[in-house]
Order: sequence, then C-alpha cells, then structure tokens
Amino acid sequence: MPSDYPLAAEGIGKSFGSLDVLKSASMWAEPGRISTLMGRNGSGKTTLLRIAVGELRPDYGALHFGGRSADRHSLPKLARAGLMFVPQRGICAPHFTVRSHFRAMASAYDLGDPAPAIDAARLEAFLDEPVRVLSGGERSRVSFGLVHYRRPTVLVADEPLAGLAPKDRDPLFRVFRDLAEAGCAVVTSGHDAIDLLRLSDVIIWSVAGTTHHLGSPREALEHAQFRREYLGPGVRLD
Ligand SMILES: Nc1ncnc2c1ncn2[C@@H]1O[C@H](COP(=O)(O)OP(=O)(O)OP(=O)(O)O)[C@@H](O)[C@H]1O
Ligand SMILES: [Mg+2]
Repeated sequence: MPSDYPLAAEGIGKSFGSLDVLKSASMWAEPGRISTLMGRNGSGKTTLLRIAVGELRPDYGALHFGGRSADRHSLPKLARAGLMFVPQRGICAPHFTVRSHFRAMASAYDLGDPAPAIDAARLEAFLDEPVRVLSGGERSRVSFGLVHYRRPTVLVADEPLAGLAPKDRDPLFRVFRDLAEAGCAVVTSGHDAIDLLRLSDVIIWSVAGTTHHLGSPREALEHAQFRREYLGPGVRLD
C-alpha cells in the first residue's frame, strides 16, 4: 500500500492550461532504497516530485506522508518532519556564505558538528565564499553537503547529477548510498542513464502522463518498451 511508505503520491493528475501533463502518475519512497524517476524531457518528472513534496497542488490524486493521507502537502511541514527536497537549482541562497548555510541548518534543526558533512562534500576551501561565486558543480556540492548534515528521513532530489562532471559524482553517490544505508528513503530523477542505473535500487518510468514501476535497474534494462522508448540501444550495465 502506498500509504505505508514514508512518502507517496498516488493516481496524480495535473494540467497546466490545456496541457495534461499527469493523468495517473504515482511514486513512492522506500526506506533504505534509492528510487529513480526516468522519462523523456517534459514527461512530468519534476511536476510529480513537486506535487509529492507539497510544492505544487495536484488536480487530483492522493498524497501520503509518514502513514497519513492528505489532499495536499505543505513542504515546510514535511521539512520539519524530516523530508528534504532538493530542486534542480539546489537549495542555496546566492548571497550567503557556505558557512552561514550550515549555521542556518544547525539552528533550524538543532544539529551538531558540521565538520564531517563539510569534509564529505569537500567544502573546506569555500566556507567563507558567498554561494554566488561558486560554479554550478560546487553549488551542487553545497546542497548535498547540507543534505549530509541534515540527514533527512526522506530525500527527494530532482536531477542531482545535472552539471556534475563524472569524477565529481562519486562523493554525491556516497552521500545518497550512506543515507539509504541509514534507512533514508531516497527519490531522485535524471537522464544520466548509466550512472543512475548503477546508483538506484528501483526505477520508475514516467511516460504518457502515467508511471510504470519497473523494479530493479536490471529489470528495467530487460523491459523492452523502456529500452526502446527511453534508453535506446546503447545503454548496458556491464
Ligand atoms: N508551472 C508550469 N506552468 C506551465 N507549464 C508547466 C509548468 N511546469 C511544467 N510545465 C510543463 O509541464 C510539462 C512537464 O514538465 P516537467 O518539468 O515536469 O518535465 P520533466 O519530466 O521534469 O522534464 P525534464 O526531463 O526536461 O526535466 C512540460 O511540458 C512543461 O513545460
Ligand atoms: Mg525535470
């Protein structure tokens, strides 16, 4: 039952004007696992994630968080209850220093020493820089350093690999895996098929306004229609 998961959105519909983006789409976050939404550009992945975390209202469908059902979610409320949402643009305020982001997080959630998170995201050199002077990939490291520090129970990260060089993805993968091993339910999205198939435990395909839960990355790779319509012929794991 989706309502048993820490975060779920079920049978979601959403239109923007005459554009029916979602007709019956579902996603759920499983504790200890990394679930990844894949699908073509404009298929509604970001829309579904924003609805699930309460940033956008659905036209219809059911939402669940921590065993409770609701017609709508409030992101600030969910955040206080342990959810973290990292949109594609990240979670940093450009004019504040990296250090002040960690301080704000510490006082909002009563957290301890940020040093291990700063170290894991390799942020020592930037601590006193305002985020606006950092490169896109460095900003992304700040966002995921903050995730590491906060240690959410549910993490929803939209396209976390976008703009990250292959070598710079490893620390991010470690943060995701480390969180999942500690029981966090992680949901992500993106187009870097090989990396995401390697990172994930569960693949959800977003297509034609709906979603198909394909199972493990290996099962997804064996799904003929997913291969044909999304991955293309060149993608393999070995
Ligand atoms: N606030 C909005 N107002 C109007 N149209 C929107 C809005 N948000 C999304 N859309 C439209 O809904 C469709 C789905 O957008 P969405 O961002 O969810 O796709 P996506 O699957 O995340 O795509 P991508 O892989 O490019 O990130 C697109 O056609 C987009 O233009
Ligand atoms: Mg998107």
